[in-house]
Amino acid sequence: MALVTTKKMFEKAYQGGYAIGAFNINNMEIVQGVVEAAKEQNSAVILQVSKSALKYAHPKYLKAMVDAAVEETGIDIALHLDHGADFEICKDCIDYGFTSVMFDGSHYDYEENVAKTKEVVDYAHARGVVVEAELGKLAGVEDEVSVDAENATYTDPDQAVDFVTRTGVDSLAIAIGTSHGAYKFKGEAKLDFARLETITKKLEDAGFHNFPIVLHGASSVDQNCVAICNQYGGQIDGAKGIPAEMLRKAAAMAVCKINMDTDLRLAMTAAIRKSFGENPAAFDPRGYMGDARAFIKELVEDKIKNVIGSVNSME
Ligand code: G3H
Ligand code: 13P
Ligand code: ZN
Repeated sequence: MALVTTKKMFEKAYQGGYAIGAFNINNMEIVQGVVEAAKEQNSAVILQVSKSALKYAHPKYLKAMVDAAVEETGIDIALHLDHGADFEICKDCIDYGFTSVMFDGSHYDYEENVAKTKEVVDYAHARGVVVEAELGKLAGVEDEVSVDAENATYTDPDQAVDFVTRTGVDSLAIAIGTSHGAYKFKGEAKLDFARLETITKKLEDAGFHNFPIVLHGASSVDQNCVAICNQYGGQIDGAKGIPAEMLRKAAAMAVCKINMDTDLRLAMTAAIRKSFGENPAAFDPRGYMGDARAFIKELVEDKIKNVIGSVNSME
């Protein structure tokens, strides 16, 4: 067994009308919670690593843990760099053995994004690695973008076709109203599904059959997790995510990869706060970290079964 790329996962997901979950990993308990859930649901999974995760845990430790997960579970796992900011970090991850990288040039002007993405694609493809890129800007990361400029930050469908044609990327992250973090909407949750439909149709018309789209900032911010955090001393107010039914709808459309990090953070924090709250005398990390791992597993199983629908995608 070895790590796989996302190529076959996305082909099957597109045809099957579901999405593959891409979960951010930062330590062993998160890796184990996610892959144990995926294994029980017979689902393929993407484990993704941000620059801060690389800094926190070191690429060699992360890679070794993910290799162990592949061996232990036997399921299809892709190891992906999340939001690679430059060629160097993408190259390093490819050289470390990652099977997928994201080059995020969304903060550059369009031509620069095309040129820089293409450089990463050339390096990655020559080594059998797939590339995700981003077009449009998600609120929350690029927080200099004002709400009034909302439309200007959404992905332009014609530009998406031009971008995919000129860069040769394997998947495209688009901006249709999601954002990173735990505070996504002030009022009603709203995603621009019409834009997603148009992007998909234009890509199809241009000859990109079943082209995989990626949705970042897709945590649902489970209110039960938030309540547990707050019940045991947390102060998380007004947190709101993407409703599960919207994610189901996106997964049934062209979205093949759904990114979730905030939900794992909240689950881990809720479990640890609860554990400390209920066992004030305990100080064995295997107790509270074990609780966190179990809670993460439960959350990911629910996502796979009831939200993104990748259950039995290993068949
Ligand atoms: O999109 C961002 C991810 O949630 C990673 O966040 O850079 O704090 O690890 P991080
Ligand atoms: P959330 O903050 O909604 O979990 O999004 C994570 C993400 O997009 C990682 O790339
Ligand atoms: Zn993201």
